[in-house]
Amino acid sequence: MILPDFLQIDPETRHVSLDGRDPAFYGDPNRVYALLHEHCPIFYWEEQRQWFFAGYDHVNGLLRDRRFGRQILHIASREELGLPDPAPHLENFDLAERYSLLELEPPEHSRLRTLVNRAFVSRHIERLRPEIAALAEKLIDGFEKDGQTELLSSFADIIPVTMIARMIGIPDEMGPQLLAWSHAYVGMYMFKRTEADEFAADRAAKEFADYVKGLIAERRRNPREDLLTHMIHTEHKGQHLTDDELVSTTIVLLNAGHEATVHQIGNSVRMILESGLPATELFRDEAATERTVEETLRICAPVHIFQRWALEDVEIDGLQFRRGDKVSLILAAANLDPKKFTDPLTFKPERQEAPNLSFGAGIHFCIGAPLARLELNTVLPILFRRLPEMRIADKPVVKDVYHFHGLERLDLAW
Ligand code: HEM
Repeated sequence: MILPDFLQIDPETRHVSLDGRDPAFYGDPNRVYALLHEHCPIFYWEEQRQWFFAGYDHVNGLLRDRRFGRQILHIASREELGLPDPAPHLENFDLAERYSLLELEPPEHSRLRTLVNRAFVSRHIERLRPEIAALAEKLIDGFEKDGQTELLSSFADIIPVTMIARMIGIPDEMGPQLLAWSHAYVGMYMFKRTEADEFAADRAAKEFADYVKGLIAERRRNPREDLLTHMIHTEHKGQHLTDDELVSTTIVLLNAGHEATVHQIGNSVRMILESGLPATELFRDEAATERTVEETLRICAPVHIFQRWALEDVEIDGLQFRRGDKVSLILAAANLDPKKFTDPLTFKPERQEAPNLSFGAGIHFCIGAPLARLELNTVLPILFRRLPEMRIADKPVVKDVYHFHGLERLDLAW
């Protein structure tokens, strides 16, 4: 077996050694995923001290498997699991996370998700199409004459946060502040975060939560046609969202609502330009656009890893997991499984194979997928129509935050 020098695979013991912070890896993870599929699609990642699943059927199955959960503290104590007590310097962060959909399991999750879903329905989303298009056109107006741009800062960074903020009912001018809070907040999910990252995340959580509380009070006095007002008034079987639930939900929608989509705009533009396929064909009509967007989501997904707790003792593929063990699912690798996709490392929008798993599956399936898809399907054709001569001007650099796959910069010229 010929492997790059930063990767070691022992198929006998299913052990893999790989430095997640090595640019040779995170700069081009697909190459490593292909090797893992070939030699060891279920493996113990020594540096992460955890079992990882890369195969499509395993990832898809485990996302739907109710013996696993995103949370375990609803059925087990910290003491039983050997977890440390909550850190006092993360009090605000923990409070903001307390009612995040991503931190809950049924029955709490089902109740909250039903209430949020009622406010967050597709017909609200579809109405945003003209607004998304107008924003994209306006941003391109701003840099078209320059003959060049750095796409992340001039375009990709702005669209998702503006749209989710407008949906919730937060004024556009809060955009930069929301981005700053969100960047500090998601620092908590990085491999090898520092104590300084933790303090910054906690401070951001407090400021963010205080701002949202003020907004909730204001909307109670002056209801509007926005998601926050809908969430305040949404009701299911006589139940409403509490203030703490409203704060957590608003924060998770804002954070989850932009970071991945920003990355995916950059990843998609890069992939399309590097493929050399003609944009006029890729975006020739709505159906072709959808296929192009789905293929970019498959081959260069923005979020690679999600974890699950074993909620009971479980055996998978001869491996014994005990209640309280954690496993990791590599969604981006599942999208490249050669058992499901022919020639998986090649960008082929015409393929009609399994759906990609980039938005997850099961009860935590991305609630924002309709919005993210609408944004991608709207802005990409506009960008390629407006700038038909667009090309990559400088080698793109991938960000050093492995579980997110996004670009540091995307320098374009035309
Ligand atoms: C390309 C963009 C996006 C990708 C790839 C993505 C991916 C995902 C994935 C994989 C999950 C499931 C996590 C798990 O099972 O552990 C998820 C959940 C979630 N996403 Fe997204 N997401 C995107 C955009 C958005 C947007 C635009 C929003 C909000 C407006 C959003 C809000 C959420 C929320 C609230 C959840 C938690 C749902 C639950 O636990 O019930 N996401 N997302």
